[in-house]
Amino acid sequence: MVSYYGLFITLHLLCAITFVGAVFFEVLVIEPLEKTLPPGVGHQVAEAIPHRVRGFMPIIVGVLYLSGAAMFWVKFTTIPDFFQTKFGLLLTTKVLLTFGVLGIFVAAMRAARRGTMDPCRFKYTHRIVGSLMLGIALLAKGMFYL
Ligand code: HEM
Repeated sequence: MVSYYGLFITLHLLCAITFVGAVFFEVLVIEPLEKTLPPGVGHQVAEAIPHRVRGFMPIIVGVLYLSGAAMFWVKFTTIPDFFQTKFGLLLTTKVLLTFGVLGIFVAAMRAARRGTMDPCRFKYTHRIVGSLMLGIALLAKGMFYL
């Protein structure tokens, strides 16, 4: 199992980059850009991008969580007194935050499929998920150096 660790962390990192990158790109680039585009074009962009993202993101998120769970299992079973260590507590906090992200992601996908995702909810969903992701990334590195 431990020999697969390099594969899990590589997949995990690539999927994290794709997922976090898409959310940050939406908040920092697409949202402000939409306001400057002519109404028709802005509307088309607002429709087309989430449609494209919904096509592949569930697979990325699935691999992200499965690889994370596999690594958590390896750490949990090989580090003595896992929950008594600072590393264990920071990693567990990180994982709890990721469940918050997962809940919001699943709710957003359902709302989009039912057609109940309005622009205001769309905007705040990205801001909340983006903030949680910032905390997750800081914890993911901080657990090694704090
Ligand atoms: C939104 C979901 C998630 C994001 C954005 C995320 C992001 C990250 C990032 C950026 C790293 C550092 C990778 C590196 O520097 O090489 C990491 C490491 C890690 N993540 Fe996640 N993660 C997520 C979900 C999960 C879940 C659900 C678990 C466990 C159930 C998990 C377990 C781990 C573990 C154990 C490591 C440490 C790997 C190591 O360096 O040995 N992650 N994560």
